[in-house]
Amino acid sequence: MDSIVITGGNRLNGTIPISGAKNAALPLMIASMLTAETVTLENLPDLADVESLVRILTNHGVDFQVEGKRKGQAGQMGRVVKFTAGEIADTTAPYELVSKMRASFWVLGPLLARCHEGRVSLPGGCAIGTRPVDLFLDSLRALGAKIEVENGYVVASAEGGLIGTHFKFPKVSVGATHVAMMAATLAKGQTVLENTAREPEVVDLAKCLNAMGAKISGAGTSTITIDGVEKLHGCRHRVLPDRIETGTYAIAVAMTGGDILLKGAQPDLLQEALDTLVRAGVTVEPTNEGIRVSRNGTDLIATDMETQPFPGFPTDLQAQFMALMTMAKGTSHIKETIFENRFMHVQELARLGAKISLDGQDATVEGVSELTGAPVMATDLRASVSLVIAGLVAKGTTTVNRVYHLDRGFERLEEKLSNCGATISRVSE
Ligand code: EPZ
Repeated sequence: MDSIVITGGNRLNGTIPISGAKNAALPLMIASMLTAETVTLENLPDLADVESLVRILTNHGVDFQVEGKRKGQAGQMGRVVKFTAGEIADTTAPYELVSKMRASFWVLGPLLARCHEGRVSLPGGCAIGTRPVDLFLDSLRALGAKIEVENGYVVASAEGGLIGTHFKFPKVSVGATHVAMMAATLAKGQTVLENTAREPEVVDLAKCLNAMGAKISGAGTSTITIDGVEKLHGCRHRVLPDRIETGTYAIAVAMTGGDILLKGAQPDLLQEALDTLVRAGVTVEPTNEGIRVSRNGTDLIATDMETQPFPGFPTDLQAQFMALMTMAKGTSHIKETIFENRFMHVQELARLGAKISLDGQDATVEGVSELTGAPVMATDLRASVSLVIAGLVAKGTTTVNRVYHLDRGFERLEEKLSNCGATISRVSE
């Protein structure tokens, strides 16, 4: 299994191109199942999660074709990929595929909308929390679907098609918002969804669906209205830049010191995280090309943070921010409010010398003056990258094992960091 080996101590200077967002790409790819015509996605990141979803979509009969390849150089356009679901060949999403990546459960929305039936495996356990699917099922039931859970599968049908409804989510969920929105595009009549997720990825999906002929308004607010249409058609859509990748590299340069241009990044996608970095003593400057982040000589200031749904501080940057706070002057308090078990990085950061204590959903981080390299591993994507960030400043060598987690969500991580001066490489065993 591959590992990433880092020798800490180098400052980061230069330019890092920001890739298309994984968490936008996945629902956009799934949305292609809603039409028999071709949906062309520009700037599609080359990631293990994208590949996993391609396998699922292929199983349903979706054709996949790469129009142009992103090769090598920084700043080049991302891949352009065509998805064509001429016919849905199979309405079952099997356990072997769905259990590998949770978001593949979301195919249930398009299957019900277009084929009026779907049999999708429950996604199963997850390292960061229990992550139930009740909100998905309740919203689809409200749209008229009959749903049973049998032998680990959600078996859903909507004879004659889905029907517009008024549904208020009892809790904000990104995935359930994506799915209900996709399902409602082909429902009869109007659907009003309340307490919807306001994440930029929801807005991006709505834009793409509207380009496919859907009638969606209000995406990005807490109420989304969808007027059902008979049919959707193909479109060409550019995946928005990855705000979590942006925040991760912003935190990396905050950690090491130096000056980085995050090319193609959009500040409005992560304003709260950028404001938190400014409070922590980091210089953040929006430019015409992206976002410039620097820290030169100033100390990191211990800064409290609490994760929240968008526009709050994203849970997907919590681990990285905690890594940063391990080297800040003073004590910071970090609260995770979205997932109940998203502190798997704490024990690993401790192996590098961090001082963190946990009390339920609250972490207290006491800044130290130095981290020291060690072998570490993590059980999820964002936790793994927080260890990379810590490794960039830790004295000596840090080896991050279980690299497949990083490959799920970070495109060419070692290349992007080493181009800016980091001593980082991948070692295959
Ligand atoms: C999306 O997951 C992201 N994944 C996650 O990113 C991200 O952490 C999360 O949103 C929150 O921002 C993708 O976009 C592919 P949720 P999702 O439903 O949609 C509870 C990463 O590292 N809930 O908004 O699965 C749930 O347990 C990943 O890239 C229910 O209770 O998250 C959680 O506590 C990790 N019932 C909360 O809602 C449900 O039916 C928010 O989860 C659904 C969710």
